[in-house]
Amino acid sequence: MKRIFIFIFLISTVSTLFSQPKKVEAQMIEKKLFGKLADGREVYEYTLSNTNGVKAKIINYGATVVSLEVPDRNGKFSDVVLGYDNIEGYVADKSYFGAIIGRYGNRIGKGKFKLDGKEYQLSINNGENQLHGGTEGFNKKLWTVDATDESNLGPSITLSYVSKDGEEGYPGTVKLTVNYQLTNLNELKINYTGTTDKTTILNPTHHSYFNLTGDPNKTILDEELWIDADKFTPVDKGLITTGELADVKGTPMDFRKPIKVGARINDDYEQLKLGRGYDHNFVLNKHQELIPKVASVYDSSSGRFIEMWTDQPGVQFYTGNFLNGKVKGKNGIMYQQRTGLCLEAQHFPDSPNKPNFPSVVLKPGQVYRQSTIYKFSVK
Ligand code: GLA
Repeated sequence: MKRIFIFIFLISTVSTLFSQPKKVEAQMIEKKLFGKLADGREVYEYTLSNTNGVKAKIINYGATVVSLEVPDRNGKFSDVVLGYDNIEGYVADKSYFGAIIGRYGNRIGKGKFKLDGKEYQLSINNGENQLHGGTEGFNKKLWTVDATDESNLGPSITLSYVSKDGEEGYPGTVKLTVNYQLTNLNELKINYTGTTDKTTILNPTHHSYFNLTGDPNKTILDEELWIDADKFTPVDKGLITTGELADVKGTPMDFRKPIKVGARINDDYEQLKLGRGYDHNFVLNKHQELIPKVASVYDSSSGRFIEMWTDQPGVQFYTGNFLNGKVKGKNGIMYQQRTGLCLEAQHFPDSPNKPNFPSVVLKPGQVYRQSTIYKFSVK
């Protein structure tokens, strides 16, 4: 008996001596100059690193996520979001790579809406409509960095932007605050709060293009998507929602079981033709204060897996249909069509003109809140 104990003791001592201790990195936040705007204002990049070595880089121009390095199933880290190497790229950008979108994510038909009996005309920047907050939305603004914080849960940064009464045609001065936290559970948590001094509308979102392969020369068509939505909001030829909530059942819009993004993207289906692929708002089955899990994406080649939680009623699923190989991204790569996918938590497009959609109205004294989480793991 004694011998057995000695044997076990020796084995465990030897295996402890020779086993590789799991490297625990220190969590931290580093700040560096990213570039300068034409008028001389400085743009800073904040690198949030968690204890697993995951890194999220965020700039105060557009409160934009410019890079997100996560491991594959072999522990190899790659950047899984599209973007640019320098500030000039973000200033010229028309794809909204990684930015916070505001005041209104997605389209408002003809850029018009009525509030308390008064009609407002917004700036028009997408055919006859407004897209993503107008000509100079929140993605084109220099945000204030209010705080950086290193809690035990993971590093975070808080940014805010004050949008003046009348900006892009919207009523009321709105203050939007966004907190990005990179938790030590490998989640990117985005918390928004917004206030106004006059009745207005507010519907911000986050516009990262993910490519879980880590190689943006590859498309996202083999990644498997799940969205917990029985219905979506069909669009017309200007990509304005018709007001209908259509069943996904029996259509290529059905992602209630994980299926490859590319499995049906070229089907002879009117909605896919109008969007040149997927560019649709999904009506989430669950949305409430306890934030439900609503979507996931899995790349079997790398093992990378994203799970998404949000308290918003909708998610815009967009397959980078407008990327056309003419935009030079990070490392000089010319991003081709469908090399990134977006899952934008939001209220439905054109809600101000669709009385049957959940309201986007914000009044003085009320606080707009949104929580959205993208969690990275491997399978
Ligand atoms: C959203 C829109 C798309 C497109 C992209 C950015 O997803 O719905 O039509 O504008 O943003 O190009």
